[in-house]
Amino acid sequence: MVEENSKKIALVTGANRGLGLEVCRQLAQQGITVILTARDRQKGEQATQQLHQEGLEVIFYPLDVADDESVAQLVRELEDDFDHLDILINNAGINFDFQQQTLAADLKEVEQTFNTNLFGAWRMTQACLALLKKSQHGRIVNVSSGTGSFEGPRGLQEQGGGLPAYGISKAALNALTVKLSRSLQETGILVNAVCPNFTATYPGTAEMGARPVPEGAAGIVWAAMLPDDGPTGGFFRDSQQLPW
Ligand SMILES: NC(=O)c1ccc[n+]([C@@H]2O[C@H](COP(=O)([O-])OP(=O)(O)OC[C@H]3O[C@@H](n4cnc5c(N)ncnc54)[C@H](OP(=O)(O)O)[C@@H]3O)[C@@H](O)[C@H]2O)c1
Repeated sequence: MVEENSKKIALVTGANRGLGLEVCRQLAQQGITVILTARDRQKGEQATQQLHQEGLEVIFYPLDVADDESVAQLVRELEDDFDHLDILINNAGINFDFQQQTLAADLKEVEQTFNTNLFGAWRMTQACLALLKKSQHGRIVNVSSGTGSFEGPRGLQEQGGGLPAYGISKAALNALTVKLSRSLQETGILVNAVCPNFTATYPGTAEMGARPVPEGAAGIVWAAMLPDDGPTGGFFRDSQQLPW
């Protein structure tokens, strides 16, 4: 399996810390060549070094998913350096705006949140499409959240009018996932959204009940490694389909 995976190339956005970094680790542990991207070069290089020290094959490229030119520059470099891309993980995400209410929301802040959480994934998918289409087993994973669904104790209805930028951006990301999956049906590229569940990526959150980072990352990696007859256009947590 590791030998088979060694031909695979995966790209993870927002990978200098948290779930993105752990997803890089878990994919590289399976023998996949991982392109670790981050908007801050120093943080990205530090994270890459950390994985190198663990003996993992990871290559760093700078990328700000909210910036058209940064995305275009990355893809120009990737097209020079690689002949295909198998896995795109749209993980970069911002602004858990629990302090905001929908009626009074700062729409500039909402717009910025959408530019990363929704358009970042959309932009990256469009930009990487030519490389993904050259893969025999293309996979796109959009890292979403139950807060953007009608499911569970933290869903859209349960948040009331709170968490507008984040919750609505993740609901839209789920909708984008469906549209992309339908658009790519003929290509064999599987596109799914994954909620990692409340995960301890910040100090103090484990004490609030957040799960360990490797557990949250495992469901994202599962969607990246689906077999060719796996699902597409779904929303999953721990490999179980969720409503949204
Ligand atoms: N942790 C949870 O409980 C939880 C639950 C549900 C869903 N999620 C989702 O899981 C994903 C990862 O969450 P996390 O907890 O690991 O978050 P995190 O620790 O805050 O990491 C987010 C990553 O995204 C990067 N990022 C932000 N804006 C970016 C941009 N414009 N371009 C490139 N990278 C950018 C950040 O870079 P900087 O370090 O430079 O800021 C950071 O590396 C997010 O999409 C989040 O919404 C998390």
